[in-house]
Parts: sequence; structure tokens; C-alpha cells
Amino acid sequence: MSDDRLDANDAACAMSPRLVLEIITLFPEVFTSFLQASLLGKAVASGLIAVEMTNPRDFAPGRHRQVDDSPYGGGPGMVLRPDPIAAAIDDAENRRGRAHRLLLSPSGRLFDQKCAADLAARRHIMLICGRYEGVDERIAQLYADESVSIGDYVLAGGEVAAAVIIEATARLVPGVLGCGESVVEESFSAGRLEFPQWTRPPLFGGMGVPEVLLSGNHAEVARWRRREALRRTLLRRPDLIDRCPLTEEERTMLAEVDE
Ligand code: 6GU
Repeated sequence: MSDDRLDANDAACAMSPRLVLEIITLFPEVFTSFLQASLLGKAVASGLIAVEMTNPRDFAPGRHRQVDDSPYGGGPGMVLRPDPIAAAIDDAENRRGRAHRLLLSPSGRLFDQKCAADLAARRHIMLICGRYEGVDERIAQLYADESVSIGDYVLAGGEVAAAVIIEATARLVPGVLGCGESVVEESFSAGRLEFPQWTRPPLFGGMGVPEVLLSGNHAEVARWRRREALRRTLLRRPDLIDRCPLTEEERTMLAEVDE
């Protein structure tokens, strides 16, 4: 080859991955198209992010490879046995070393943008997917470093929750986002909802575009966007204002709306 320079892709291939994701799941097929699509797909294809999947079923005892059993103390549903999950965790870590282990559970600590940022700073994360009926408590107590939930609703299993955590985390890993999609802009407005966006056509469904966005006045646009973000946050997510109170500047900005 006449040109031996590495492009961004080759460079990532030559390096060890920036982040290794270990997924412990009974349903690995849930992740296949998700991990191939869009920016995450590119990060995986380039080797920037490595994904390994381990199925507890492969470590389940007996001819039927049964991974669950009825709960001690009685009640409906089935509970995942701890031994196949523990064996899957051990097998994964025998290949790649100790990971930061997350158990996906509706009774875990609520996952948010701060958790995503903390995870993105790590090099090796394990996502242990349970089922909604439950996982034997010994996995949480003996194996998991933390238990996390993605919201106050019940999913049939941890797989979709793991996908949410992977996407929120991976996009914060340096090199995953293109220059066009900046994370800097987001941290500026941390604790507030995003401002509304508009693009062509200028007239759609009888509705135009806010005049200020067509003005070319960047300072005015920036100010308008912050005000709209604030207005939305107050209206839809007052809990965010409680957690991160209005600054003096924001108070002034809101006062202008009422004028
Ligand atoms: Cl992590 N798992 C399940 N099964 N349901 C959930 C969840 C997790 N987070 C919210 N709901």
C-alpha cells in the first residue's frame, strides 16, 4: 500500500477498546440490531467499544438447562437461580478481567445522566439482565456492585433497560459522537429540558417558525433558546427546578416572558 497512514477507524482497531461492555443475558438476540445501528454500531465496528455477551443458560444444570425456579416462601412466577448467573459472570471475567457489575432491576437506584457520565469514565462494565419476577437476592448481595432501574415502570426483563444504559453511556465515550453532536452543549443546560428545535420547511401544517430563529442574531437566538428551555422545564418538569433552583440570571430571563 502506498499510503500507510491510519484513518480514525484503523486507529481505533489498532488500540484496545476504550470501553468493554459485558452483557449477561438469556436473550442475546435482543441486542444484535441495536448494537449495529447508528453511532453505537460505528463505535463497535471500529473497536472503540467492545461488546461481549454471555448467556446464563449455557451454564445451567441438567438436561433442560433450567435457569429459573419457584420462589421460596411461595407465590406466583419464577425466580432466576443464582448459580447459572454467577457462572456466566465468572466465565466472562475469566476472559476479560473484573468489570464494574450492574444488576438491572426495577428495585435498583434510579439511572440518570450523572450515572451515565460516571459509567462512561469506566473501562469495563457488566450489565446483568434479570427478569421482572426477580433474580435470587444473592446475586445482588454477592455479585453486583450496584443495582439500577431506568424508571418507575415494570419491564418484562432487564434487556431493554441495559440497552438504554448502553446508549446513554456510549454516546459520552470520547470518539463515539461525531463533531456535529456535541456533549458540551448539553452540560451547559444540565438540569433543564432541551429547547425546541426547528428546521425546513419554513411553513408546515399551517405553522411557521419563530421569527428570532430566522433573524441571524446569534445572541438573541441563544437567549431565546435558554428562555424556552426554562419555560418548558417549569411547565413539564418542576421537579428539575426543585433539584437545581433558578439562578438569578434565569429569574430575570423568566420575568421577560411575562412582559
Ligand atoms: Cl432495570 N428492569 C425491569 N425488569 N424493569 C424495569 C427496570 C429494570 N427499570 C425500570 N423498570
